[in-house]
Formats: sequence, C-alpha cells, structure tokens
Amino acid sequence: MSARRKVTVVGAGMVGGTVAQMLALRDYADVVLVDIVEGLPQGKALDLMQAGPLMGFDSYLSGSNGYEETAGSDIVVITSGIARKPGMSRDDLLKTNMSIVGSVTEQAVEVSPDAILIVVSNPLDAMCHVALDAAGFPRERVIGMAGVLDSARFRTFIAMEAGVSVEDVSAMVLGGHGDTMVPLSRYSTIAGIPITEYLSADQVRAIEDRTASGGAEIVGLLKTGSAYYAPGTSVVEMVDAILLDKKRVLPCSVLLQGEYGINGLFIGVPVKLGAAGVEQILELNVTDDESAALKQSASSVRGLVDAMAQLKDS
Ligand SMILES: NC(=O)c1ccc[n+]([C@@H]2O[C@H](COP(=O)([O-])OP(=O)(O)OC[C@H]3O[C@@H](n4cnc5c(N)ncnc54)[C@H](O)[C@@H]3O)[C@@H](O)[C@H]2O)c1
Repeated sequence: MSARRKVTVVGAGMVGGTVAQMLALRDYADVVLVDIVEGLPQGKALDLMQAGPLMGFDSYLSGSNGYEETAGSDIVVITSGIARKPGMSRDDLLKTNMSIVGSVTEQAVEVSPDAILIVVSNPLDAMCHVALDAAGFPRERVIGMAGVLDSARFRTFIAMEAGVSVEDVSAMVLGGHGDTMVPLSRYSTIAGIPITEYLSADQVRAIEDRTASGGAEIVGLLKTGSAYYAPGTSVVEMVDAILLDKKRVLPCSVLLQGEYGINGLFIGVPVKLGAAGVEQILELNVTDDESAALKQSASSVRGLVDAMAQLKDS
C-alpha cells in the first residue's frame, strides 16, 4: 500500500489521459484510470508508468474496467462521456452523458465515500447536478471544472493581444460553461493593472468573444474531438489546490444557495479550494450588467436541469 494520495480518473480518453499524465508528473499521488473500454485504461496507465524513469516520477498508475481498485480515493475526477463533434453543442451531449455520469458516480462513491468529486463531463454545470444527486455528497465535495479552463483561455488571449507574459496576467470568468459564460474584464489584470486600462474597448470585447467560443474554436480545428491539454491541466490545478491544501481562489462550478442571488444551481464563481473541497464562496461586487449576464447564464443552466428532469420522467 502506498502512502501517496490516490486520485481516480473515470474516463481514460483524451482529457482523462492528460489528467493522469499531468498528475504523474506532480509525483505526489497514485492514479487509477477507469474506462468501459477493455485495455484502454490499462494500456494508458502502463504507457505512463514507463515515462516514470524518464521524467523522474514514482507515482503508481493503474488501469481498470471496474471500481474495486479505486477504493479509498481522495479525489474522483469524472471525464467519462462523449465529447463534442463539430456542429454539436454541449447541450446535445445531455442525454447520453447524464446516464453515464450518474452511473459512474454511484459506483465510484460506493467505494470512496469520503472523496471529493471533480466533474469535467459536458454539459458541465448540468453534469454537476447529476453527480451531486447520484453521490448524495454535500456541495463542498462536488465541484465542476470549467472556470479554470475558461480563465486560462482568457489569460492566453490577453497575453497574446497585449504582448506580455501569461505569468503576469490574471483573469476571472464567471457563469455557466458555455456560450453564456461571463468574462469579467474589470477583474482581469496585467501585473495588477486592469486590462481595461491596457487594451482598447474593442480589443477587450474581441478577447471576451474569443474566450466564450474558445472550446468551439478548438473543436472546429480538431474535427474529431474537443480540447484536452488545457482542460486536463486545469483539472490538475484543482487537484493540487485540494490535495496540497493550497487555499487557491479559482473559478469553479458550485451549487449556489443564494449567493449572487441564485439558488439551487451550479454556476461558475470564485471559490477557495482546499483540503475540504470548496471552503468558501467569494461574492464579488458585480455591476448591473454583469449581474444580468450571470442571471442569463443561470437561466440556461436552469433550462438544462429542467430538460434532464423531463428526460428522467420520459
Ligand atoms: N469541463 C470542461 O471544461 C471540459 C473540457 C474538455 C472536455 N470536456 C468534456 O469531458 C468529457 C471527456 O472528453 P474527452 O475529450 O476526454 O472524450 P473522450 O471520448 O476522449 O473520452 C471519454 C472516455 O469516456 C469513456 N466512457 C464512456 N462511458 C463510460 C462509462 N460508463 N464508464 C467509464 N468510462 C466511460 C469512453 O470510453 C472514453 O474513453 C466530454 O464530455 C467533454 O465534452 C469538458
């Protein structure tokens, strides 16, 4: 038995494989990859193990088609499901991924009742609702990954436009993961200077639009799947924050219970992530326009939650 922390990654596809690789490089956790495809998680785990001597990590990686080996995981990352194809919206994925996410969550939490769940499968905010219901966990332990990726995209485009290092750019994106996300330019800075003072209004608007369609831009280029390097790395930033108890302030999808005037919906907002999962929800002062955009985003998540209730009844 290893004394290292244990992370299970359900879905050994492109995002799951990237999460496993990035985590192995961190060298503080063992990783179990789970997939329904026989041989896929086992093959990826063995391949990654063989990178250990070259990259200098001792993380143990294993693959499985069941959940026995995942028992006692500290974190379960859920990436299983189907990804978007060109022309497909995240919402098209609703029915298939709802049944996959519900079933894998039930199986995973049965053997890891104290785990923290990080949901990645799309449509993200709706799948967080499915995982929360299936797990029966408190909201602190069911967290959606979207804002970290969306703000990494925002930071990338700001740095490219301003010609500065990404290291000096910090950015905040709120809202649902989708076309209604709310990039918060007022809270986005280059070395502490608001980007609105650094870039023209037209430049800022163009960057915001490109961020909101950042996932679709990559789907259009790849043609056979969706993004995975930046999504996988975003998950690992959240795993680091939790397992290393870093108290990072990161935008994540969490169940709001009155915060930002929204109740009973998973929406991306800044949270403090530490050993207990979501340790605090930070309420930023938002303008009327930003608040309206956030509500608009919430109403599209509400639409998906209602659609899922109908699908369940049908
Ligand atoms: N939240 C985000 O920001 C974000 C970013 C990128 C991708 N995604 C989503 O993440 C998901 C995975 O994307 P991907 O590119 O890795 O897709 P992928 O097709 O490469 O991998 C998905 C894997 O899930 C497996 N799977 C399907 N049903 C399963 C089940 N019942 N149990 C276990 N495994 C099962 C498949 O066999 C496949 O290997 C998609 O829903 C995608 O839309 C979300």
